[in-house]
Amino acid sequence: MQTEPIKPKYEQLLRDFYTQLRAIHIDQLERKWITISLVVIGLFVGIITIDAFFHGVNPPSKVETVDSASLHLNKEFAEDNLGVQIDAKGNIIVRMVAGRYSFFPKHISVPAETPITLRWVSMDVLHGVHIPMTNMSTMIVPGYVAEITTTFPKPGEYPVLCNEYCGLGHNHMWSNISVIAKEDWKAPVKTAAKGGSSNE
Ligand code: CUA
Repeated sequence: MQTEPIKPKYEQLLRDFYTQLRAIHIDQLERKWITISLVVIGLFVGIITIDAFFHGVNPPSKVETVDSASLHLNKEFAEDNLGVQIDAKGNIIVRMVAGRYSFFPKHISVPAETPITLRWVSMDVLHGVHIPMTNMSTMIVPGYVAEITTTFPKPGEYPVLCNEYCGLGHNHMWSNISVIAKEDWKAPVKTAAKGGSSNE
């Protein structure tokens, strides 16, 4: 049998390796620093874990699914339901659709220094959204709702950029958000009347 002599040889190799490993002299000071490094790594991982747990940090999609092919028939993401709205609890909710090559609606106005929950869906391929100066940066995966709550620090014009390559027009995929001083901002009047002609 061929395997017989191989096994002891392998064991011998392992034993030698272990002996060599034991023979390595680790300086007392070096040992201390290795311990400190491991403790610091453990501390950071611990902080991240605890923070994620207590703040309910989820992957942006929260695994909430949506049928990308029929967004126009979907109540939440139907065309006349997009944009800025205030829900029953007074929270500002923004619904946006990403599609090659823009974000819809093209332009919205929101107040500064106010938490705003943005819900994004894609109607075609994978897109990304990045709003500089905020924590808004997420992928928009077709079939999933990406939800992020963010606060715009100060009034101004903020670009909304696509940061996932989505096709030839990717470079031109952007829209913008006007952020208005908190006291000047007025909640949009809900366009209750359906079929407000929004022809292209
Ligand atoms: Cu959409 Cu790149």
